[in-house]
Amino acid sequence: MKIKKAILTGGGRATRLHPITTTINKHLLPLANKPMIFHAIEKAVEAGVEEIFINTNPGETDLENYIGDGGHWGIKIKFFEQTGGPQGIAHVVNEAKEFIGDEPFMFYLSDNIILGSIKPMFEEFESGNYDCMLALSEVPDPQRFGVPIFDENNKLIDVLEKPANPQNNFAVTGIYLYGPKLFFETFEKIEKSNRGEYEISSIHSHFLKNNKNVGYKEITGWWKDTGKINDMLIANRLLLEEMPEEEFINYGTADVDIEIMGKVHVGIGSRIAKGVVLKGPVIIGENCLLENCEIGPNTTIGPGCEIKQAKIKDSIILDNTLIDVDLDIRESLIGKNVRIIKKPTNEGGNMVIGDKTIVEI
Ligand code: G1P
Repeated sequence: MKIKKAILTGGGRATRLHPITTTINKHLLPLANKPMIFHAIEKAVEAGVEEIFINTNPGETDLENYIGDGGHWGIKIKFFEQTGGPQGIAHVVNEAKEFIGDEPFMFYLSDNIILGSIKPMFEEFESGNYDCMLALSEVPDPQRFGVPIFDENNKLIDVLEKPANPQNNFAVTGIYLYGPKLFFETFEKIEKSNRGEYEISSIHSHFLKNNKNVGYKEITGWWKDTGKINDMLIANRLLLEEMPEEEFINYGTADVDIEIMGKVHVGIGSRIAKGVVLKGPVIIGENCLLENCEIGPNTTIGPGCEIKQAKIKDSIILDNTLIDVDLDIRESLIGKNVRIIKKPTNEGGNMVIGDKTIVEI
């Protein structure tokens, strides 16, 4: 039975990505200059999904305004609010029960970024008689994740959520496939965990203890849960490295006396003025102005930015930010409409820095 429906996450508080996520939904943060959730939508579409349901925080319309109805990808996208706000990701799935009906579906945590395709996982699920299929990935810190438990014959027998002493180095990633109905029947039988959430691992543990057919597939490419700022920077770098050369096009105008190396994309309306060095992979958004600066590698600059004097590498800069100072910036995530400028006089700096901001100079 082919999977044509998927539920994607779009809610949550994202406190580990503060302060950036106090003004922007985590799922709209750019990776390779594309909102994070767009990468998840594209993976789903590529695997054959035709209808996507995305949960939002109560009252929040940003995601819907940004993503639209799915026409851009040739599919249908609908949004739903999680009644009562965040209560765990198994609860998100249960809230989409009416949309899924009695069809098989995928559940995808939109902050999970993977390289490569999930099509082989779909194909294996669709050709076998599975109730559920989990995507596993080897990680250095399995205690942060759901961990699969195997018996002595390597048979999957349980999934434990964030165990203090994991049995192995595998994480259950946030990409799950389910057959018809069973998820919703099982949800009625699980309880909230100690952290007060309906855990997805409780569902899988219940499946396994009741002899349901739970398959697994290892993600051999690369997988990242982008819950923390450093993970975002790594994901940005890997996505840029993976992007094919033909997607890097220079639509901007360039002055003489500039140096461009490697894969560099410059958006429409952007001007690369004198003294600029661009070291790919780099993406410069639309309508930017760069002058006497060095950008890259592994850096994305959002639309409408103006960068002068600075050196920026391994960083993500969001829209309409102005940086005009001789500063070496690396491994940084800088928000929208930020101004970092040199004062014309030497009377000490003036700063307006919001809550929880980090400045290390
Ligand atoms: C959730 C799941 C966990 C899974 C992880 C993958 O964790 O509960 O089992 O391994 O996503 O990203 P959370 O991000 O909610 O802590």
